[in-house]
Amino acid sequence: MSEISTKVYAVLAREILDSRGDPTIETLVVLESGYRGVASVPAGTSLGKYESVELRDKDPKRYGGMGVLKAVAFVNGEIAAKLKGMEALNQGAIDKMLIDLDGTPDKHRLGANSILSVSLAVAAAAANARRLPLYQHINDLFQPFIATKMSRIPTPTFNVINGGKHGAGNLDFQEFHIVPASNKSYSEALEIGVAIYNSVKQILKYRNAVYSVGYEGGFAPNLFTNLDALEILAEGIKSSPYTFGVDVFFGLDLAANSFMHERGGYQIKDKPGTLTSPDFIRYLTELHKKYRLLILEDPLSEDDWEHWALLSKEIGHEVLVVGDDLLATNPDRLKRAIKEGVCSGILAKPNQIGSLSEFFAVIAIAKEAGIRTIVSHRSGETNDSFVADLAVGVQSDYVKFGAPARGERVAKYNRLLQIESEIIPKK
Ligand code: PGA
Ligand code: ZN
Repeated sequence: MSEISTKVYAVLAREILDSRGDPTIETLVVLESGYRGVASVPAGTSLGKYESVELRDKDPKRYGGMGVLKAVAFVNGEIAAKLKGMEALNQGAIDKMLIDLDGTPDKHRLGANSILSVSLAVAAAAANARRLPLYQHINDLFQPFIATKMSRIPTPTFNVINGGKHGAGNLDFQEFHIVPASNKSYSEALEIGVAIYNSVKQILKYRNAVYSVGYEGGFAPNLFTNLDALEILAEGIKSSPYTFGVDVFFGLDLAANSFMHERGGYQIKDKPGTLTSPDFIRYLTELHKKYRLLILEDPLSEDDWEHWALLSKEIGHEVLVVGDDLLATNPDRLKRAIKEGVCSGILAKPNQIGSLSEFFAVIAIAKEAGIRTIVSHRSGETNDSFVADLAVGVQSDYVKFGAPARGERVAKYNRLLQIESEIIPKK
């Protein structure tokens, strides 16, 4: 066995828990030289129907059917048999092998969770073997897709109030964000996020709007309408040292799939009855007039292409209209979105597509078309901070890692602080 061999020696997957208490997969890759890499995959709660498929055991006797022992067995069996002896520096060949071995367009045979855990662990092991920080290795791997120099830390967007499927069940919209101005340094932006997070907490206490926190660490208060949540954010900013429209802006992830009425139309608490797509667009345009949104994610359902285009025509010159469930980090859906002019930003989640190389390809398509990129966590996370290195390595415009609170969220924010200190010259 050579001292410097970067060939894969062993692969070992295990079932661990994510931040919601649901199982997920963690994979260790050991190279012949002894260098190793570990990665775990996150999972979504508001899953889009065009995402690659995560394999769950569906055995009601274990973890309510959420176990991932089948995915673990695939990694330790079929995948390990192929991967052993492969060159870990050749991420493209390994990802291709994983995709071919699965053989389905949505990775449902082996599971996008099994495949991604291996893809990421290989990259982590290769970075270690090269004795480089992970973001540097990722940036090197990304060059053939589109030449990219690392010069900044992506701007964080903070999910301060959690509704929808992540919250207490009373707010329709899933995420209420504050977004620091992108001319701030990352550490300043983080401080702004924390200051406003804390002032929002004080306001909720004062209003007796009993709060706990939702899946992504934002507050899940017992407010009644979506507008109440925006008012609280506005108050939170007012009582902080920062100025709305100068230092900090609003962002929303509606995750609109989750409040579609079964017979069609959008159903939200702020309005009686269900709204047709054109009516809902009018509502969103008014909302934007009043609150001057910077980012609006999944404002409409993942199949409502025609109205996405209409909304983008209405407010797209002022608002970053972002596709998450709409695009599912899928190259074909992104190409269609570019052609039809339906959005100006993509929420990019590695587990929606299922391998590192395919993720790079999607980011490159977006960048070439001038589509803004937001590299994102999921609501079910682990303390793995791979996604922070990934965002820096591909130089996304923004990162979405939840509230600046809770271990699995701050693991990513803290990693970005570390990277900032390494790559950004001190003023
Ligand atoms: P999810 O939510 O991880 O539950 O899908 C995140 C998002 O919708 O952006
Ligand atoms: Zn979303």
